[in-house]
Amino acid sequence: MLRPESLRARSPHGIASEIARLAADGTLAPGERLPTVRAIAAALGVSAGTVSAAWRALADAGVIVSRGRAGSFVRSDRSEWLSPRVHELAAPAGPVRLDLSLGTPDPAMLPSLHAAFARVAPRADTGRYNDVPVLPELHALLAETWPVAGVEALTVVDGALDGVARTLEQVVRFGDRVAVESPGFPYFFDLVDALGAEAVPLELDRDGVTPASLSRALTRAPAAVLLQPRAQNPTGVSMSPDRARALARVLLGSSGGRRVTVIEDDHSALVSSAPDVTLARLLPAQVVHVRSFSKSHGPDLRIAALGGPARIVERVVARRMLGPGWTSRLLQTVLVDLLTDASSVARVRSARLIYRDRLDRLASALRRLGVDVGEPDGINLWMPVRDERAAIVRLAASGIAVAAGRPFLTADGAPAPHVRVTGGLVSENTRLVAEALADAAAAPPL
Ligand SMILES: Cc1ncc(COP(=O)(O)O)c(C=O)c1O
Repeated sequence: MLRPESLRARSPHGIASEIARLAADGTLAPGERLPTVRAIAAALGVSAGTVSAAWRALADAGVIVSRGRAGSFVRSDRSEWLSPRVHELAAPAGPVRLDLSLGTPDPAMLPSLHAAFARVAPRADTGRYNDVPVLPELHALLAETWPVAGVEALTVVDGALDGVARTLEQVVRFGDRVAVESPGFPYFFDLVDALGAEAVPLELDRDGVTPASLSRALTRAPAAVLLQPRAQNPTGVSMSPDRARALARVLLGSSGGRRVTVIEDDHSALVSSAPDVTLARLLPAQVVHVRSFSKSHGPDLRIAALGGPARIVERVVARRMLGPGWTSRLLQTVLVDLLTDASSVARVRSARLIYRDRLDRLASALRRLGVDVGEPDGINLWMPVRDERAAIVRLAASGIAVAAGRPFLTADGAPAPHVRVTGGLVSENTRLVAEALADAAAAPPL
């Protein structure tokens, strides 16, 4: 319950900051109704305009919602179907002019599905429930382009996250540990928690996960090591081939390392500019590699390929037969079409070049303004900021949404604050966007 007389600030910015802090630390409960503007103005001895300005800033930052005559409320629209860190990722409500918070591809750059759908079977029939789960022509295409020759088993799953989750389910037991990049993908942390496992953080530098942090993680005997070989989310780092060899050697050099399952999530595959990279070249018997088509061909296709040792891949396939069964052959047919039709192939190739160009231009504009975001690959960049919340609020005020950095970190330590920016969506006014980002990066704590 907010007692207006307990507020110390008198300026719009100060009042907004105090209330944001009270909402963040739980003093103000989600859904709680705030006193009226007039009551607060009277209690503080300021004008109603001052309080209204504070309210507008709070609403823009998604801290409160205004429901007209009913009043203003601490925002409480928890989307219950979202896991904890994923929920934290949700962008604040408010008018957004440029949404760089999503981590999703530019819809304008996805290949059109029209022609592909015209070529699928007219009815959603299937021969038998126990037919081979992957269309032979798709299997052949995947085998030809897989980053390691002679992969033992290949299948198709419902997106990279499905592939990662199903592989983890096969190799991780309650109480096990999973080594995972931090900063890393919030869904992975929630997934590891949901399996009753413990996340062991891996550190990254500009070439990928560091061998030293992998060695350290191996001393804790993880059951699995989860890596993003390219366009790491959120940092945009792609692993160099030398680094892949170094990591494989670390694994080979430790008895625990030779037993661990390595899962590689190549989520941005065909829109990454870096060459294909995998530890499977040196460790074919223990690497499961996942290649998603979400970023290149559309997240709603829900298709990824998964390949690796038969002892793991076949268990994943068998388990799926007791659930979804297989990835719809309609969608597999569409994917085959998109991977072979010349204009779709050209479109995906040009998308990769355009993302490369957009990220390069944004990253160099930021560098000129004194903000170092490295040389990100894919669609995201990881921007250091002085204060995460202040940066988000500052950007919200100019209609730009970015993702909070905190959900991308494991619980340990007190890492430097960052926000994740889906720079691959910045198609124009790059300099102005960079200026707004750099200004937010320097914003002092609220
Ligand atoms: C690291 C990572 N893995 C998986 C995914 C989701 O991929 P998919 O749509 O193939 O499940 C994303 C999406 O951004 C991602 O960043």
